[in-house]
Amino acid sequence: MVKKIAVFLSGGGSNLQVLIDKQENLHGQIVLVVSNRQNAYGLTRAEKANIETAVIVNDDQAILELLRKKEVNLVVLAGYLAIVSSHLIAAYQNKIINIHPSLLPSFSGRGAYGIHVHKQVWQRGVKITGATVHFVNEGIDEGPIIMQEACDISDLQTPEEIQQRVLQLEHVILPKAIQAFCENRIEIKKGKVRIHE
Ligand code: GRF
Repeated sequence: MVKKIAVFLSGGGSNLQVLIDKQENLHGQIVLVVSNRQNAYGLTRAEKANIETAVIVNDDQAILELLRKKEVNLVVLAGYLAIVSSHLIAAYQNKIINIHPSLLPSFSGRGAYGIHVHKQVWQRGVKITGATVHFVNEGIDEGPIIMQEACDISDLQTPEEIQQRVLQLEHVILPKAIQAFCENRIEIKKGKVRIHE
Protein backbone atom coordinates (compact mmCIF):
# COMPACT_ATOMS: atom_id res chain seq x y z
CA MET A 1 0.00 0.00 0.00
CA VAL A 2 1.54 3.32 -1.09
CA LYS A 3 1.99 5.56 1.91
CA LYS A 4 0.44 9.04 1.85
CA ILE A 5 2.83 11.88 2.64
CA ALA A 6 2.20 15.44 3.81
CA VAL A 7 5.09 17.91 3.53
CA PHE A 8 5.17 20.92 5.87
CA LEU A 9 7.30 23.90 4.85
CA SER A 10 7.79 27.62 5.35
CA GLY A 11 10.23 28.54 2.61
CA GLY A 12 11.52 27.88 -0.88
CA GLY A 13 10.83 24.14 -0.89
CA SER A 14 13.94 22.78 -2.64
CA ASN A 15 13.61 19.66 -0.47
CA LEU A 16 9.97 19.33 -1.53
CA GLN A 17 11.02 19.69 -5.16
CA VAL A 18 13.46 16.79 -4.84
CA LEU A 19 10.68 14.65 -3.33
CA ILE A 20 8.33 15.60 -6.17
CA ASP A 21 10.99 14.78 -8.77
CA LYS A 22 11.75 11.40 -7.13
CA GLN A 23 8.17 10.60 -6.13
CA GLU A 24 7.82 7.46 -8.25
CA ASN A 25 10.79 5.88 -6.41
CA LEU A 26 9.59 6.77 -2.91
CA HIS A 27 6.76 4.21 -2.76
CA GLY A 28 4.94 7.12 -1.24
CA GLN A 29 2.58 9.73 -2.66
CA ILE A 30 2.73 13.41 -1.62
CA VAL A 31 -0.95 14.20 -1.09
CA LEU A 32 -0.67 17.53 0.74
CA VAL A 33 1.69 20.45 1.31
CA VAL A 34 1.04 22.61 4.37
CA SER A 35 2.64 25.96 5.13
CA ASN A 36 2.33 28.54 7.88
CA ARG A 37 3.32 31.21 5.34
CA GLN A 38 1.01 32.35 2.54
CA ASN A 39 3.96 33.36 0.37
CA ALA A 40 6.15 30.28 0.76
CA TYR A 41 7.48 29.42 -2.70
CA GLY A 42 7.18 25.75 -1.78
CA LEU A 43 3.40 26.19 -2.17
CA THR A 44 3.95 27.24 -5.78
CA ARG A 45 6.07 24.16 -6.38
CA ALA A 46 3.25 22.01 -4.97
CA GLU A 47 0.60 23.70 -7.12
CA LYS A 48 2.73 23.18 -10.25
CA ALA A 49 2.83 19.48 -9.36
CA ASN A 50 -0.96 19.41 -8.80
CA ILE A 51 -0.54 18.68 -5.10
CA GLU A 52 -3.18 20.02 -2.70
CA THR A 53 -1.90 22.87 -0.52
CA ALA A 54 -3.10 24.50 2.68
CA VAL A 55 -1.96 27.55 4.61
CA ILE A 56 -2.68 27.02 8.30
CA VAL A 57 -1.46 29.38 11.00
CA ASN A 58 -1.70 28.46 14.69
CA ASP A 59 -4.51 25.98 14.24
CA ASP A 60 -3.43 22.55 15.42
CA GLN A 61 -6.95 21.15 15.19
CA ALA A 62 -7.27 22.16 11.54
CA ILE A 63 -3.95 20.50 10.74
CA LEU A 64 -4.95 17.27 12.46
CA GLU A 65 -8.36 17.20 10.76
CA LEU A 66 -6.79 17.76 7.33
CA LEU A 67 -4.19 15.03 7.88
CA ARG A 68 -6.94 12.61 8.89
CA LYS A 69 -9.13 13.61 5.94
CA LYS A 70 -6.23 12.98 3.54
CA GLU A 71 -5.37 9.73 5.38
CA VAL A 72 -1.73 10.83 5.74
CA ASN A 73 0.70 8.17 7.00
CA LEU A 74 3.86 10.29 7.12
CA VAL A 75 4.47 13.96 7.86
CA VAL A 76 7.74 15.44 6.49
CA LEU A 77 8.99 18.74 7.94
CA ALA A 78 11.14 20.34 5.25
CA GLY A 79 12.01 23.79 6.53
CA TYR A 80 8.87 24.20 8.62
CA LEU A 81 9.33 27.08 11.04
CA ALA A 82 6.24 26.66 13.21
CA ILE A 83 6.03 24.63 16.38
CA VAL A 84 4.68 21.10 15.92
CA SER A 85 2.10 20.59 18.65
CA SER A 86 2.27 17.78 21.19
CA HIS A 87 -1.13 16.61 19.87
CA LEU A 88 0.33 16.14 16.41
CA ILE A 89 3.43 14.40 17.78
CA ALA A 90 1.24 12.08 19.86
CA ALA A 91 -1.03 11.32 16.89
CA TYR A 92 1.95 10.61 14.62
CA GLN A 93 4.45 8.88 16.92
CA ASN A 94 7.56 8.15 14.82
CA LYS A 95 5.62 9.20 11.75
CA ILE A 96 6.97 12.76 11.58
CA ILE A 97 10.36 13.15 9.88
CA ASN A 98 12.47 16.33 10.01
CA ILE A 99 15.56 17.36 8.04
CA HIS A 100 18.08 19.38 10.05
CA PRO A 101 21.08 21.05 8.38
CA SER A 102 23.78 19.88 10.81
CA LEU A 103 25.14 16.65 12.32
CA LEU A 104 22.87 16.36 15.35
CA PRO A 105 23.25 16.77 18.24
CA SER A 106 25.67 19.52 17.21
CA PHE A 107 24.17 22.91 16.35
CA SER A 108 20.63 22.08 17.41
CA GLY A 109 17.96 23.37 19.73
CA ARG A 110 16.10 26.65 20.05
CA GLY A 111 17.09 29.18 17.39
CA ALA A 112 19.15 26.66 15.41
CA TYR A 113 17.31 26.66 12.09
CA GLY A 114 18.05 27.60 8.47
CA ILE A 115 21.01 29.95 7.95
CA HIS A 116 21.42 30.41 11.73
CA VAL A 117 22.75 26.85 11.93
CA HIS A 118 25.41 27.58 9.32
CA LYS A 119 26.35 30.86 11.02
CA GLN A 120 26.99 28.90 14.24
CA VAL A 121 28.95 26.29 12.27
CA TRP A 122 31.03 29.04 10.62
CA GLN A 123 31.56 30.86 13.91
CA ARG A 124 32.73 27.67 15.63
CA GLY A 125 35.16 26.88 12.83
CA VAL A 126 34.29 23.19 12.53
CA LYS A 127 35.84 21.43 9.53
CA ILE A 128 33.08 18.87 9.07
CA THR A 129 29.34 19.46 9.11
CA GLY A 130 26.41 17.79 7.38
CA ALA A 131 22.71 17.00 7.52
CA THR A 132 20.49 14.81 9.67
CA VAL A 133 17.12 13.20 9.07
CA HIS A 134 15.37 12.29 12.31
CA PHE A 135 12.00 11.44 13.78
CA VAL A 136 10.31 14.28 15.64
CA ASN A 137 9.53 13.83 19.32
CA GLU A 138 8.70 16.25 22.13
CA GLY A 139 12.23 17.65 22.26
CA ILE A 140 13.75 20.11 19.77
CA ASP A 141 15.86 18.15 17.25
CA GLU A 142 16.07 15.27 19.78
CA GLY A 143 14.11 12.47 18.08
CA PRO A 144 15.68 9.20 16.90
CA ILE A 145 18.24 9.80 14.16
CA ILE A 146 17.40 8.02 10.89
CA MET A 147 20.23 9.05 8.56
CA GLN A 148 23.18 11.46 8.45
CA GLU A 149 25.63 12.57 5.78
CA ALA A 150 28.79 14.61 6.41
CA CYS A 151 30.81 17.02 4.29
CA ASP A 152 34.19 18.73 4.60
CA ILE A 153 33.76 22.52 4.68
CA SER A 154 37.39 23.50 5.37
CA ASP A 155 37.57 25.11 1.91
CA LEU A 156 34.49 27.31 2.43
CA GLN A 157 34.49 30.96 3.47
CA THR A 158 30.90 31.92 4.36
CA PRO A 159 27.78 30.52 6.05
CA GLU A 160 25.96 30.80 2.71
CA GLU A 161 28.53 28.57 1.00
CA ILE A 162 28.16 26.05 3.82
CA GLN A 163 24.38 26.18 3.48
CA GLN A 164 24.57 25.38 -0.22
CA ARG A 165 26.91 22.42 0.29
CA VAL A 166 24.76 21.01 3.11
CA LEU A 167 21.59 21.49 1.07
CA GLN A 168 23.03 19.13 -1.55
CA LEU A 169 23.36 16.46 1.15
CA GLU A 170 19.80 17.10 2.35
CA HIS A 171 18.54 16.47 -1.15
CA VAL A 172 20.19 13.02 -1.02
CA ILE A 173 19.34 11.73 2.46
CA LEU A 174 15.77 13.02 2.81
CA PRO A 175 14.34 11.05 -0.13
CA LYS A 176 16.39 7.99 0.89
CA ALA A 177 15.00 8.10 4.43
CA ILE A 178 11.43 8.62 3.19
CA GLN A 179 11.75 5.72 0.75
CA ALA A 180 13.00 3.49 3.59
CA PHE A 181 10.03 4.56 5.71
CA CYS A 182 7.52 3.96 2.89
CA GLU A 183 9.04 0.53 2.27
CA ASN A 184 8.74 -0.33 5.99
CA ARG A 185 12.52 -0.79 6.26
CA ILE A 186 12.96 1.41 9.34
CA GLU A 187 13.12 -0.25 12.75
CA ILE A 188 13.38 1.66 16.05
CA LYS A 189 14.65 -0.05 19.19
CA LYS A 190 15.26 1.86 22.43
CA GLY A 191 15.38 5.16 20.51
CA LYS A 192 17.91 3.88 17.98
CA VAL A 193 17.03 3.51 14.30
CA ARG A 194 18.09 0.64 12.08
CA ILE A 195 17.45 0.76 8.33
CA HIS A 196 17.09 -2.64 6.66
CA GLU A 197 18.46 -2.77 3.11
C1 GRF B 1 16.83 23.37 4.76
O1 GRF B 1 18.08 23.95 4.93
C2 GRF B 1 16.54 22.45 5.90
O2 GRF B 1 17.68 21.85 6.44
C3 GRF B 1 15.94 23.35 6.92
O3 GRF B 1 15.18 24.29 6.19
C4 GRF B 1 15.72 24.39 4.89
C5 GRF B 1 14.63 24.13 3.89
O4 GRF B 1 15.10 24.44 2.64
N1 GRF B 1 15.14 22.59 7.83
P1 GRF B 1 14.08 24.29 1.41
O5 GRF B 1 12.89 25.18 1.70
O6 GRF B 1 13.70 22.83 1.33
O7 GRF B 1 14.88 24.73 0.21
